[in-house]
Amino acid sequence: MTWFDVEEQKRSNSLIVGCNSSGKTYLLASIEQALRLEDDWKTICFDNAGTFSKISDIPEKYRVLPVSQKIPIRSNICYDTSLLLRSAQIRFMSEMMRYYWLSRAHNGASKWLAFLVEECELIWQRIRSKEHEAILRICSSGRNQKLRMVGVTTDLSLLDTHYIRLAGQRYFSKQLVEENAQRKLRRTIGKSWTEQTAKLEVGEFIYQKGTEIRAVQVPCYNKICETMLLRENRQS
Ligand SMILES: Nc1ncnc2c1ncn2[C@@H]1O[C@H](COP(=O)(O)OP(=O)(O)O)[C@@H](O)[C@H]1O
Ligand SMILES: [Mg+2]
Repeated sequence: MTWFDVEEQKRSNSLIVGCNSSGKTYLLASIEQALRLEDDWKTICFDNAGTFSKISDIPEKYRVLPVSQKIPIRSNICYDTSLLLRSAQIRFMSEMMRYYWLSRAHNGASKWLAFLVEECELIWQRIRSKEHEAILRICSSGRNQKLRMVGVTTDLSLLDTHYIRLAGQRYFSKQLVEENAQRKLRRTIGKSWTEQTAKLEVGEFIYQKGTEIRAVQVPCYNKICETMLLRENRQS
């Protein structure tokens, strides 16, 4: 794959930034699929926007409701958390991540696990609450537990710079015109690449990996597991 490096995903995290309808969720679905098809990876998606679960072929989808319920804990699953309030979404993600951290710290892990997060600005912020600590820990030192993250956001200016630094692979599609977002992008990829983002079409990204930076065209996402059973909870 010229547009995604699985080995780099083991070393760090990934970040996808761009305005609406620029291909972010399709790219996230492509990355999820690519990881899941590797022998040594599993995935868990937190779909805070309610769009990923509609397009992905991830084997299981579970809609989290804003009432108390027994949550299935397993991998290769997408939790649709779009019905929850923001505070409940943050709590849900951090509890899940804390669970996997502790479980892996005690029992070890043979496979890598990627958390894929739509609207990652919810959790990749400067706020220093207990929830955010559980998340920062995975971004910074999750490698030891084989836990990694892929975040998607529309607005780079809402992310704490610390999280941006912890993302070794970054994808920038067409950006918000808002000045704060543009300024932060210029600081991240420089002035001329920032200007390039304005010309990008859907599915095209400026791809930054370490010191390497180039434009990439991501193949349009295709479901390849149509025949797999898609389980959803009854209420959805
Ligand atoms: N790589 C791609 N190549 C061609 N078309 C794409 C590609 N990615 C997405 N699209 C088209 O663009 C639309 C918006 O993509 P989406 O990923 O939902 O955008 P975003 O998440 O940035 O709002 C999709 O419905 C799809 O039709
Ligand atoms: Mg989207």
